Amino acid sequence: MKTFLIKFRTIMSRDVIKRLVLICFEWFSRKSDPDLRDGWRLAVGKVLENRWLMGGLFLGNLLAAVFEGGTIGILALAVTILVEAQSADLVLPKFAGINLFVDGVVEEIGASGVFLILVVLAMLAQIIKSAMAYLAKYFSIRLQFVISREVQDEATAHVMRYSYGQVMKTSGGELGAIIGQTSAIAGIVTIVNRAALSVTMLVTYFAFMFLLSITLSITALLLIGIIFIGMSRIIGMIKLLGDKIVNSTLEMGHIVVELLNAPRLLRVFGVTEYAKIKINSTRRIVIEAQEKSAAIKAVVDPVIDSITIMAAGAFLIVGYLSTGERAVEVVPKLLLFLFILNRMMPHAKSLNEVRMGFAGSLRAFALTGNFFNPGGKVFSRVDGQVVDRISQGINLENVSFSYPNTATPALTGITFNVQQGQTVALVGGSGGGKTTITSLVLGLYEPGSGVITVDGVNLQTIDLNAWTRLIGCVEQDIFLLNASIRENIAFASDEYSLGEIINSAKAAHIHEFIQALPLGYDTVIGDRGSRLSGGQQQRLGLARALLRKPELLLLDEATSALDGESERFIQNALLELRERVTVIVIAHRLSTIAHADKIIVIENGTVIEQGNLEDLLSNENRFFQLWKLQSSQG
Ligand SMILES: Nc1ncnc2c1ncn2[C@@H]1O[C@H](COP(=O)(O)OP(=O)(O)O)[C@@H](O)[C@H]1O
Ligand SMILES: [Mg+2]
Repeated sequence: MKTFLIKFRTIMSRDVIKRLVLICFEWFSRKSDPDLRDGWRLAVGKVLENRWLMGGLFLGNLLAAVFEGGTIGILALAVTILVEAQSADLVLPKFAGINLFVDGVVEEIGASGVFLILVVLAMLAQIIKSAMAYLAKYFSIRLQFVISREVQDEATAHVMRYSYGQVMKTSGGELGAIIGQTSAIAGIVTIVNRAALSVTMLVTYFAFMFLLSITLSITALLLIGIIFIGMSRIIGMIKLLGDKIVNSTLEMGHIVVELLNAPRLLRVFGVTEYAKIKINSTRRIVIEAQEKSAAIKAVVDPVIDSITIMAAGAFLIVGYLSTGERAVEVVPKLLLFLFILNRMMPHAKSLNEVRMGFAGSLRAFALTGNFFNPGGKVFSRVDGQVVDRISQGINLENVSFSYPNTATPALTGITFNVQQGQTVALVGGSGGGKTTITSLVLGLYEPGSGVITVDGVNLQTIDLNAWTRLIGCVEQDIFLLNASIRENIAFASDEYSLGEIINSAKAAHIHEFIQALPLGYDTVIGDRGSRLSGGQQQRLGLARALLRKPELLLLDEATSALDGESERFIQNALLELRERVTVIVIAHRLSTIAHADKIIVIENGTVIEQGNLEDLLSNENRFFQLWKLQSSQG
């Protein structure tokens, strides 16, 4: 017994079962589309991870089938006893032992007494069967929601691991929709549950049918076979509609998020009507495909019902006519047969519904398989050396970079050095490559050639999370949440006290403004900060960056929306940070960068000159021209 238990455990252990299932799986799916196969592999893997729930599901279904069989057996016996009272013909073939036993009991308490007992037993067996079916259903529901949650959690984590370049390839709305679609993987549970129940039930019914009559059983089998094959066309249609539903759901996610995120733009350009039509027409495609699919699926039920009724009538008529005088004896048997046929058909239906459900979710399975496939995708680096401060500086050495799918490089041979505590300004015409340089320094992209080093260590070997935690970054377009000012300054972190938040707001010269608001730091600033002016938004962005006590401050046109006075205040604040904080500042207003330690002029992706203000002015080169131009404009 003990060794048996141990053997059972080894068999149930993850590895053995998993390997067996996977071998079967690989064989069965060897011809299908690789994405679909990946989707399936994922679903099977998920089911295997939860194999105890799956085991409960199978057991429940098996027991339900056993008790269903029991009910039929008991009913058959009951009918036999009734018939026996008049004729010697048995409904079920004689099983010597049972019949002797039954005969004995019948003699004891009389045929009608036994009949009543049997009917009560049949009822009990049905109740137990329903309870078992419920148990299986319960496990299937649980399993389904567990898998749905797990897969969506993993999908979200997967997107978060994407590199910046990778995540930019797909719109946010579409990514959200894809994450939603991955839960289709959980549909495998319904498929397995219903298929398991229906198959065990069908086997039970056929066993009894064969005991009753072999000819009738073969006819019934043929009937179900014809229905099964006849369904193939419908399955094909449902598969196509399923593809359409998934594709247009993704499109829908993309469009809705994009258009609903631009409320101001839509109104400024007077195109709300266009947005309405665009969103609604995409939704219509989804809904029409869903409706069509539902309508097609609904045809199956009445068709199978009619076929069943016609077959039952035919069985009765043929049975009656072929037996003539002896019809009275045959009819009870025939009725029992029809009873079984009637109980059987819902499972034949269910099996076909499973096929339809399966066909409809193929696209979502393939999508999920493709989505989770790491091939051809770029992920953020997660390992690497952890840096916690900048002690010497940042160095760019002959750095070149091209954006994916672009012909001309954005940067070529960029070389400059930023010493710790220095303020370095990047200037030059729009599109020159300044923002691209900051993206590379942030580690959002990696250089195509050349190296960026931090204290002599290649940035590509540094832990990116640790690195970006050292950086405070303010860009021209400040991303603000529809939340309180306090939450916006703390941004996705709850480790800062109100005191710290106020200090950074003071440094960013926004504290007085905030304090004057009725709700102060608890004021909610509207979607994307819509209740603040451009300059206020930028100062809030600066407060957010300063709160993190950065080692490196990246200001990319971060003061462009400020008036001269506010900008001077902020400049003074930055001067106070000097020597402690390294600053890379990009500004169009050259007065902003006048006291930078070094000014680097970038045009067309290359450094055309660098030095301090005096050097550059005395060179009378490009910077000198820019300076002259801005001075003359006042
Ligand atoms: N995500 C991107 N994909 C492709 N090209 C880009 C991308 N971002 C910027 N560029 C291109 O790279 C060049 C440099 O852009 P950028 O660094 O933003 O310039 P700057 O900040 O100096 O105005 C421009 O020609 C721009 O069109
Ligand atoms: Mg820029």
